[in-house]
Amino acid sequence: MSRYILSIESSCDDSSIALTDIESLEVVAHKKISQEVAHSRYGGVVPELASRMHAVALPKLLELLKDSLDRVAAVAVTTHPGLSVSLHEGVIMAKAVATFLDVPIIGVNHLKGHIYSLFIEKEAKLPLLVLLLSGGHTQILSVKGYDDMSILATTLDDSVGEAYDKVAKMLDLGYPGGPIIEKLAIKGDRERFRFPVPLQNSSRIAFSLSGLKNAVRLQIEALKAKGEMSQKDKCDIAASFEKAVLLHLLQKSKKIFKQETIKHFAIVGGVSANNYIKDGFKRLCSEFNKEMLEVALQYTSDNAAMIGRAAIEAYKAGEFDTIESLKVGANRQLEAGSRLH
Ligand code: KG4
Ligand code: ZN
Repeated sequence: MSRYILSIESSCDDSSIALTDIESLEVVAHKKISQEVAHSRYGGVVPELASRMHAVALPKLLELLKDSLDRVAAVAVTTHPGLSVSLHEGVIMAKAVATFLDVPIIGVNHLKGHIYSLFIEKEAKLPLLVLLLSGGHTQILSVKGYDDMSILATTLDDSVGEAYDKVAKMLDLGYPGGPIIEKLAIKGDRERFRFPVPLQNSSRIAFSLSGLKNAVRLQIEALKAKGEMSQKDKCDIAASFEKAVLLHLLQKSKKIFKQETIKHFAIVGGVSANNYIKDGFKRLCSEFNKEMLEVALQYTSDNAAMIGRAAIEAYKAGEFDTIESLKVGANRQLEAGSRLH
């Protein structure tokens, strides 16, 4: 009889549970309830609302999988980083289910989950250079194994996803901003506004988005001072902003590509759904003769299948937590040179 990992993800505003076959890697079930609509009224995620909604959604999702629970060999749950009140809801449920089923429990780093989203229903292809672009993180990592991931570069301030969300908010476009900005930008003129490309005269291999965000804010204020912004203005802002983001990501990644001999590259995290950014990196990869791996679109945003896939690595290595020791983990941003735990 096949044995499954039951995985739970609740680090932000998506409640998700999956069952993954440990041997075949098949995602046997994957359920998700997104809270985007509830948070969009506030222009961003409200943590207390998120945790209350997880407390309602997670038991509903588990109920849908109840006929398969006798096959569960371990329960995996995202422990960090993320909104602690949201993570708590997943951890409480994971502990209850693992205790009830009398199976081991595995705590998973959400960022490792995003990296393993590349290998859902597939064997891992390592070593790999990864550009992780999520709502909370912007990092380049060298990934050599589940327990061997180090940060080569990180952001000094905002993340790319956050910058997309904030620009969308400035344009009164709703939340999450990334997909909305991408759609508008397709119709926009990328040359109309020459936003400064962050850190372009610095040799530092790091990211920074707050200066660009402020330049966009000033431009929006200048347009608003002349009257109401047109749809074309909004499209051109979105397109010019995206261009500066892409140039920044490419310039810094290029420095790493010159140093690293690792042949495979991938972008992961919510922003990796963005075709403009993906296409820019496809060109960079062909210039450096690197093979670019892609996350299947349905797994770019937060989901439990990626947590289950990552946990299979821990399961096979016999790395388990205990009900007593498993806790919501620390949330601080790690510096370049640190390893992911
Ligand atoms: O990885 P993710 O789902 O959640 C976190 O771990 O944070 O990433 C969410 C972020 C949000 O900031 C969202 O606006 C951004 O990913 N995003 C996009 C796109 N789709 C989602 N950004 C740019 N273009 C997109 N198509
Ligand atoms: Zn995420």
